[in-house]
Amino acid sequence: MMEELSLHILDIVENSINAKATKVDIEIDVDKRENLVIIKVTDNGKGMDDKTLENVRDPFFTTKTTRKVGLGVSFLDEIAELTGGSLDIESNLGIGTTIQLKLPFDHPDRPPLGDIISTLITLLATNPQVWIIYRETRNGKTWEFDSKEVEGLLGDYTWLGKIKEVLYNSYKEFTGGELI
Ligand SMILES: Nc1ncnc2c1ncn2[C@@H]1O[C@H](COP(=O)(O)OP(=O)(O)OP(=O)(O)O)[C@@H](O)[C@H]1O
Ligand SMILES: [Mg+2]
Repeated sequence: MMEELSLHILDIVENSINAKATKVDIEIDVDKRENLVIIKVTDNGKGMDDKTLENVRDPFFTTKTTRKVGLGVSFLDEIAELTGGSLDIESNLGIGTTIQLKLPFDHPDRPPLGDIISTLITLLATNPQVWIIYRETRNGKTWEFDSKEVEGLLGDYTWLGKIKEVLYNSYKEFTGGELI
């Protein structure tokens, strides 16, 4: 199992992109008072039919034709189970999918959030055509990144390096360097 939530988020957004989403919203809510970390990913992709939705948590289920296992969602289910959290999946054919993972903040088996900026940069670099909005709230304060703000710059790798630097700095100002 991967040790950082940011890598699981990358996986979940890649599912959205595989499902032809043109817009993906990533929302993180860290509420220490409620002892919760909530991760919610909403896409406007093709959605899942009933059979897919029923089986999506099964590690041996995938609709990919290139392989026999589909691990992305099953890992989230496992983390939820391990920590006494929950995983909710809502999907409507032709409309999109929302995946919400709720974890107890202080559980020793809750993976750290990890390098979320690196996840965002990877997504921007590999899928510049997809509109990505990232919003993180920590105890009432919110930090947001909207890929529309950097649209048009993404084809150029020298710009990508600058975007990376700006995002790292701005995010660090938001978190105060606190790793969660
Ligand atoms: N956001 C989504 N929209 C539509 N279908 C989805 C979405 N997320 C998952 N699915 C469906 O659920 C299946 C299982 O997803 P999962 O991430 O667990 O495995 P995978 O993507 O098939 O393989 P892997 O993630 O291991 O590369 C996918 O093959 C796809 O059919
Ligand atoms: Mg997947």
